[in-house]
Amino acid sequence: MNEREKNGPLVDQRDESDRILIVDDDPSMRTALMETVKRLGYAVEGAVDGSDAMERLVRFRPWLVLTDLRMPRLSGLDLIKEIRSRAPQVTIVLMTAYGTIETAVEAMKLGASEYLLKPFSMDVLERMIVSLKAGREDGLPAGPPVQSTESRAILTQDPGMVRLLSTIEGVAASQATVLIHGESGTGKELLARFIHARSPRAHRPFIAVNCAALPDGLLESELFGHERGAFTGALIKKIGKFEMAHTGTLLLDEISEMNLPLQAKLLRVLQEREVDRIGGRDPVPVNIRVIATTNRALYREVEAGRFREDLYYRLNVFPITVPPLRERAIDIPLLARNFSTQSALRNGLTPPTLSDDALAHLQRLAWKGNVRELENVMERAVLLAGDGAILPEHCPADTCGDTVGQPVRPQHPANGSLWEMERELIFKTLARVKDNRTHAAKELGISIRTLRNKLREYRECERPLSIPMS
Ligand SMILES: Nc1ncnc2c1ncn2[C@@H]1O[C@H](COP(=O)(O)OP(=O)(O)OP(=O)(O)O)[C@@H](O)[C@H]1O
Ligand SMILES: [Mg+2]
Repeated sequence: MNEREKNGPLVDQRDESDRILIVDDDPSMRTALMETVKRLGYAVEGAVDGSDAMERLVRFRPWLVLTDLRMPRLSGLDLIKEIRSRAPQVTIVLMTAYGTIETAVEAMKLGASEYLLKPFSMDVLERMIVSLKAGREDGLPAGPPVQSTESRAILTQDPGMVRLLSTIEGVAASQATVLIHGESGTGKELLARFIHARSPRAHRPFIAVNCAALPDGLLESELFGHERGAFTGALIKKIGKFEMAHTGTLLLDEISEMNLPLQAKLLRVLQEREVDRIGGRDPVPVNIRVIATTNRALYREVEAGRFREDLYYRLNVFPITVPPLRERAIDIPLLARNFSTQSALRNGLTPPTLSDDALAHLQRLAWKGNVRELENVMERAVLLAGDGAILPEHCPADTCGDTVGQPVRPQHPANGSLWEMERELIFKTLARVKDNRTHAAKELGISIRTLRNKLREYRECERPLSIPMS
C-alpha cells in the first residue's frame, strides 16, 4: 500500500465542521494521531508533508489542521503561512518539541491558534480539540473567523458615491488608518472590505471585530487574546484579533461603543504597534492596518467625554462619510433590481420585474435601515410577488411609519397585514431558536440590530399577541 492509500479519506462527505487534517511525516505518529481523532468522532485525513497538506486542504476542507513542524518540502511554518493566506478560517495547531519553543511563538504570530509541546499525551490532544471546537461554536473562534476576504461589488450611480470610491481607491494603497462614518446599513463594512481588497494586504487576513457586540471584558480578550489561566475560564491560550490581523487589516466596527479603558489600550497598540496579551509577559509586535467604522459622529463623543481625543485623531487620519440611501435615491432602482434578481436566483425563481409603481414607492421610503433594509425588503418582495411583477404592496418598509412624506404603516396594523406576517415570522423564529437573537437574525437574514429594532417597534406598537409560540 502506498502512502496515499494508507492515508486516504477514512470518512468523507461530512459536514466541514467534522473534518480534521493531520500533517506529520512520521508514519507512526501520524497513525496514532489519526486514530485518536477518529475516536473523538471526527473524519480525518493524514498528509505526509506540507505540500500534500495543501492539496488535501482544498479537497477535504478541514476546520482544523494539526501539523508537525519539521517536514520535508513545505515546513510547518510555511504551511501555516500558506493556510493563513488561502484558507483563513481554518484553525491551526502546531506540534513541536521543547527545543523549538521560539518557533512555536513564531507559528502563533503567523496564525496558528495553539501549539502542542511534544511529547504530549492523547488526552491533552483530546482536550485541546474539544476546547478549540467549543471556542469556534461559541462564536469566539480560536482561529480567525470564517470570513471571506473578497469584497462584493459596490453598486452605485450616484455621482457623490462614485467620487468617494475613486478617492478610496487612492487611499487603499496606503497604510493610512481610515475612519468610515455612516448610518446603519449604508455599506460601511462593504467599503472596508473594498479598501482591504485594493490594498497591498489583499491576500492577508481581513479580521472584523464588532465593538458593540461583546461585553467589555470579552471584547478585551477578543482583541488582545490571553494566556492560558490568565483569568477564571481562560482554559486555553487564545490569540487575539490584533495578532490574527497581523500583516493584514483589522476592522473595528462601531468603535464608539468601546469603553474608555479599552480605548487607552487600543491607542497603545496603534502607537507602539505591539499588543500585550492578557496574562502575557512580553508584548507581541503586530503590523496591522486599521479601519474603524462608526454610526455616531465621533467628535461629538469626544466632546461628551465618551471617546478619547487622542485616539480620535489617530483614527481620523482619513475620514470617509457614506451618505444615507435617501440622499442617493438614484441608486434605489439599481440596487432594488439587483437585490431582487439575486434573491430570485438564490431561491431558484425567475428574476421578477419591478413595476413602475413599486419603483416609485421604493423611492418615496425613508430607508432608515439604508441599503441593508432595501436588501431585506427586496428579498421578501420576491417571495411575496411569486410569479408576477413586484408591486408596491410587496414592498413594505422595515422601519416603523416611514415614508419621506406620510407614514404608510397603519398605527394599528390590520390582522393579516404584511407587518403582522413579519412579526409572526419573527416571533416564531425566536421561539424555535429558544430566543437566541443571533441565530434568529441569521435565519431571518437580517442583522441583529434590525431584529432588535423590530422587537422594540413591536413593543411600542403593542397589540395583544395571537401567535402560538411553538
Ligand atoms: N452600494 C452597494 N452595493 C451593493 N450592496 C450594498 C451596497 N451598500 C451596501 N450593500 C449591502 O448592504 C448590506 C449592508 O452593508 P454593510 O454591512 O456594509 O453596512 P454597514 O454600514 O456596515 O451596516 P451596520 O452599520 O449596520 O453595520 C450588505 O449586505 C452589503 O453587501
Ligand atoms: Mg457594519
